[in-house]
Amino acid sequence: MNSRSYKIITFGCQMNEHDSEVISGMLTQRGYTEAAGEDMRNTDIVIINTCSIRENADKRFFGTLGQLKKIKLANPNFTVCVCGCMMQQEHITKKLRQSYPWVDVIFGTHNIHEFPDMLEEMFQRRSTGEDWTVNQIRSSREFRVDRVYRDSDRIVEGLPAKRLFGHKSFVNIMYGCNNFCTYCIVPYTRGREKSRRPEDIIAEVKALAADGVKEVTLLGQNVNSYRGVSADSGNEWDFADLIYALNEVEGLERIRFMTSHPKDLSDKLIAAFAECDKLCNYIHLPVQAGSSSVLRRMNRKYTREQYLELVRKLREAVPGIAISTDIIVGFPGETEEDFCETLSLAEEIQYDSAFTFLYSPRRGTPAADYENQIPEDVKHERFNRLVEVMNRGSKARNAAFVGRVCRVLVDGPDKKSSGILNGRTEEFKLVDFEGPEELIGSMVDVEITASNTFSLQGRIVSEQE
Ligand code: SAH
Ligand code: SF4
Ligand code: F3S
Repeated sequence: MNSRSYKIITFGCQMNEHDSEVISGMLTQRGYTEAAGEDMRNTDIVIINTCSIRENADKRFFGTLGQLKKIKLANPNFTVCVCGCMMQQEHITKKLRQSYPWVDVIFGTHNIHEFPDMLEEMFQRRSTGEDWTVNQIRSSREFRVDRVYRDSDRIVEGLPAKRLFGHKSFVNIMYGCNNFCTYCIVPYTRGREKSRRPEDIIAEVKALAADGVKEVTLLGQNVNSYRGVSADSGNEWDFADLIYALNEVEGLERIRFMTSHPKDLSDKLIAAFAECDKLCNYIHLPVQAGSSSVLRRMNRKYTREQYLELVRKLREAVPGIAISTDIIVGFPGETEEDFCETLSLAEEIQYDSAFTFLYSPRRGTPAADYENQIPEDVKHERFNRLVEVMNRGSKARNAAFVGRVCRVLVDGPDKKSSGILNGRTEEFKLVDFEGPEELIGSMVDVEITASNTFSLQGRIVSEQE
């Protein structure tokens, strides 16, 4: 029996979170145990799953490595593994080779399934002394890039996942991205779009539902371009076909998805919102900018007007649908007029919530080389103005919930106050309410009694399974 403990530190999006669940599942299957507590000195193996999306994510990764180095120097058996999107960037692995030679295992986003074997091979070599001596930690000979692959055509099915929650789960429906938005690194780190077979997805969701999962979030960089080829018929399924099929899964109560690219949002999917009772009244629809000329330079392939029209259609077909978005401030060449168009679009739509980002040049993407990069102080000033408008919108949308009774899937105890639980409404609104911990994982009806910018408060009016 393997007695080593591990801890995974995850940066980035739901893709990475789910990859970490898979890594955890594979290690658990091999007998490793997840380390309890926060102190990394008490664990044998630390795995950092990295993100390349913005500069901040890079900085946090190297900051964490700095902390781990101290532990490694005190205890050479301490094992450090790194993976995720940053490993797909050559300048990063080069930097690791040169300046972080004590990192034990590096693996890419297409090699996750190979990690447990790589780890064991490394332990094997370490135990035989081959290519490993403690004293070499400071020299650069200890570096071990076992395998870093660029891409692969296969989708590896059937990997175990150790889920963070018993009652909800992520399900990958596709990998990669073909869109090449000019600011974005993801197509370079995750490779080309590949859709899973519908039968594999349905079987996974059925198994999850049988295991008590009430809510699934279907993951893809652009789920709207899902094209899964059926193993049975050879027919191609689109995303709406998949939703209709999953809506029939017994025991499953809620379906969510991320992310939906506006350019590919079909009328068929809008109809599915109205017809599929399990599909939640919520859509994350990243707009990125309110100016058509910025959108064109971002290679988003829709205009401001087309986006507004989509929102109008969604709201007409699905009254009360909650809409959230992502916006980038300070894209190269963004003028004050362009930015004001983002502000006015946000005012007009009144989003339920939004992630707002300062543009961050990513090496290797076209926009990083564009002229007219926006000075940091201008970006920050615009960012603050945008956040103010966004918050006003969220506050007003949340206020409209007061007095309503909402079904809430209870996620867990509140981190700050004891006796308080929180969960999400169908619209993805966070709700705090009093209740016993036995309710975690179940659906309850909550009357909304108060609201603020980022959450609602309520009281339970009835409990149901
Ligand atoms: N596939 C998803 C987005 C994944 S990245 C989609 O297309 O919506 C999540 C968000 O990070 C993006 O929507 C974008 O708003 C932001 N982002 C991506 N690259 C960025 C960059 N270089 N600088 C700032 N924000 C960025
Ligand atoms: Fe990045 Fe655009 Fe692909 Fe989203 S759709 S992952 S923003 S390239
Ligand atoms: Fe980051 Fe990779 Fe996700 S770059 S946002 S972890 S796909």
